[in-house]
Amino acid sequence: MRKLLLIVTIFTLCGYSQCRKNVLFLMADDLRPNIGAYNGPNSPSPVHPQMHTPNIDALASRSLLLKRAYVQVALCSPSRSSLLTGRRPDTTRVYDLDHYFRHTGNFTTLPQYFKNKGYRSIGMGKIFHPGHASGHDDPLSWSEPFFHGVRHFESNSHSWLAVPDANLVHTPLKDRQVADHAIQKLKQVAPDAKSGRKNFFMAVGFHKPHLPFVFPKSIMDKYYPSNSIHLPPNPYAPRFMPDIAWINYGELRNFADVAALHASGNINTTLPDYKVVQLRRAYYSAITWMDSLVGEVIAELENLGLSDNTVIVFASDHGYQLGEHGEWCKHTNFDIALHAPLMIRVPHRTDAGISTDQIVEFVDIFPTVVEAAGFSPISQCHYRISPGTKLCHEGISLLPLIDNPNTPLKNAAFSQYYRHNRVMGYTMRTDKYRYTEWINFDFKTNTRSTPHWQQIQSAELYDHTIDPEENVNRANYKSYHDIRANLRTQLHRGWLNAFVDPSHGSPQLIG
Ligand SMILES: *[C@@H]1O[C@H](CO)[C@@H](O)[C@H](O)[C@H]1NC(C)=O
Ligand SMILES: *[C@@H]1O[C@H](CO)[C@@H](O)[C@H](O)[C@H]1NC(C)=O
Repeated sequence: MRKLLLIVTIFTLCGYSQCRKNVLFLMADDLRPNIGAYNGPNSPSPVHPQMHTPNIDALASRSLLLKRAYVQVALCSPSRSSLLTGRRPDTTRVYDLDHYFRHTGNFTTLPQYFKNKGYRSIGMGKIFHPGHASGHDDPLSWSEPFFHGVRHFESNSHSWLAVPDANLVHTPLKDRQVADHAIQKLKQVAPDAKSGRKNFFMAVGFHKPHLPFVFPKSIMDKYYPSNSIHLPPNPYAPRFMPDIAWINYGELRNFADVAALHASGNINTTLPDYKVVQLRRAYYSAITWMDSLVGEVIAELENLGLSDNTVIVFASDHGYQLGEHGEWCKHTNFDIALHAPLMIRVPHRTDAGISTDQIVEFVDIFPTVVEAAGFSPISQCHYRISPGTKLCHEGISLLPLIDNPNTPLKNAAFSQYYRHNRVMGYTMRTDKYRYTEWINFDFKTNTRSTPHWQQIQSAELYDHTIDPEENVNRANYKSYHDIRANLRTQLHRGWLNAFVDPSHGSPQLIG
């Protein structure tokens, strides 16, 4: 009798759709892990001043915090196309801000997966790269029209702007509009989500801290006094860096205030110190602004009584350079451009806060969220690229890290960058090293085959055990000959061979 009662209770507490969790998918744009939660001795990149990010820190303290998560490309649309399909750039063939992944293959996206499972799939702000690069926010992904805000105070005339708070009352910044929309939508979907009638997948994409760094002035005044901002420790290119690794950061130099400085963007030049300080200060302020909005959305989720049954993801689309190496923005294969924040809150499982230093990739997000929401695992793709398969993933579920944060799932993270329409930089981060090969690559002819590894132009090898800032390329050091040979083999063998548990991947299937 007691047994029966228990079963009945469990059944009513966990009817079909209530066992399924909602998903709140939060994204920031161009955010490197400049977040309080990433401070500390194991902090992987030395990028941190004292940050004021109490809301994201609070989420991190109840999440699986992935301290060493790497994106597949340090560029918006390729990275987002990859993480939202769970497929790598050589599968999506999205290497730039133009190509739309559905012109390569009809891949099921993460929001589309949930929509197909009967969820309300709702998107707002910046999730896919806007415009034709995503067929205008990939309509197949959503149950209802995608919401965009209206831009105020943003133009090419200034790379950053601290707007007096009073001026924002009637002309709110775009991210303010996105947060307000999210709050209103949460209220709208809450009754059905709570009764178990209809779950939701809600993607809320903030635009900050992307350029131009625009934010309420009070934040900068309060948290980032000018004298608290430091210059980067390494404002020079790595020793023995091949030129192909460099980008002249036109994205930043296009803003009128930066253009007026006539910076060339050349290797081993940088912006004047006062400008570097200004930009870093404004970037940090934009982060704190975005953090406050994340806090408001999560608070609403809690107020509505939904947080017990909602998986929360917080991620950026890649890292960022703020004058390190004299470099700006993203567009490189340096660790600092590829390393991005990622945390996943699974109610009842991560409440105590679990932090891991294991290497993970953004293609792991898709399979993780599917399982965290209560669905059975989707299968891993069998081949290095499988454009004909709609639904499979090229990563691994990160849920095992909740129970075993000290047990690695994979030996390396793989990323890439397509340069000058003729060279692909394939790069790999292992526990100790970053190894990169720049090889000839013709988008039109050879993406469907194995990369032409023999057509190598140059290589980079950074030893993170002694050089976490990547200031010396040791690829051609005699003392690193054997290490490089091993890394080279591992890079060429690729992601299918990088799993610690050999039942993942399909090594026998690749040539
Ligand atoms: C892509 O797949 C969706 C269903 O997942 C289908 O509705 C759509 O027609 C397909 N598009 C193409 C071009 O095949
Ligand atoms: C840039 O400066 C660094 C540090 O002085 C030096 O090691 C490196 O060789 C320089 N690179 C170029 C291309 O001049």
